Amino acid sequence: MNKRYRPEHQETALEFRDVTYTHKGSQSAIFQHVQAEVKQGEFVSLLGPSGSGKSTFFRLAAGLSHPDQGTVFLHGSVPETRLGRVGYMPQQDLLLPWRTILENGMLPLEINGVPKKEAAHNVSAHLKAFGLDGVENQYPHELSGGMRQRVSFLRAVVGGSDILMLDEPFSALDSITRFMMQEWLLEQWQMAGQTLIFITHDIEEALFLSDRILLFTQPPIEGRFTEITVPLPRPRKENARDHPELLKLKRELINRMRGEGGII
Ligand SMILES: Nc1ncnc2c1ncn2[C@@H]1O[C@H](COP(=O)(O)OP(=O)(O)OP(=O)(O)O)[C@@H](O)[C@H]1O
Ligand SMILES: [Mg+2]
Repeated sequence: MNKRYRPEHQETALEFRDVTYTHKGSQSAIFQHVQAEVKQGEFVSLLGPSGSGKSTFFRLAAGLSHPDQGTVFLHGSVPETRLGRVGYMPQQDLLLPWRTILENGMLPLEINGVPKKEAAHNVSAHLKAFGLDGVENQYPHELSGGMRQRVSFLRAVVGGSDILMLDEPFSALDSITRFMMQEWLLEQWQMAGQTLIFITHDIEEALFLSDRILLFTQPPIEGRFTEITVPLPRPRKENARDHPELLKLKRELINRMRGEGGII
């Protein structure tokens, strides 16, 4: 068992307290009095159909949108700015077209005042693990969608924030690369002990990776999310994918999502 992973004893890293939010120009609230907590060091996935508000939840957590009512806490307080306090990989990669891959990766470090040389060194050390060795001097338009996604993922990780929010980071990858990246992510997380919040449409991915899964239903979402706890021990290896408990939970989740009328 990973020593750093003891969510039952951990402080709360992220809390939504009584959060109500309506998109500008929209007639109805997407969240009503929503309550959610993620503990420090936990791996939590947000799973739900398209349009159910998963990315909106991230934008509120990252401070890119603000609740109409209620509060979003980071480590028990409301920081003046949340930007830079959380590593955020948005659903659409927001790579800057005029910067090379290396320079794109360096961005969060530069924003945090790290000297360019040190930032370049830090990012270079990660290129291989992200399968980006050799493309560091290319520009985003020269890369495939899956590669751009990996650059965006690297950028969220190198910032060094202890809360990492990844919005469908593996959706553009082929299935083998995806499996490898999932296992790599688990290893990194198990070593570093960050808080990881992960959006996915993929039930098996959510089950394999997470401690807990929050289920998003068609909006409005009111109060607490329905949640599933994944009872498999850590560290999890590749063979955990076939664990009978996961297969049982997968069936249960499919039935539940069907019952909600959602398309994942
Ligand atoms: N800026 C915006 N202005 C108005 N409505 C928005 C805005 N952004 C999102 N929405 C609406 O809010 C709802 C939730 O969107 P969101 O992007 O959070 O869903 P999602 O669960 O991330 O979906 P997907 O799985 O397709 O990425 C959708 O109905 C969407 O149309
Ligand atoms: Mg989304």
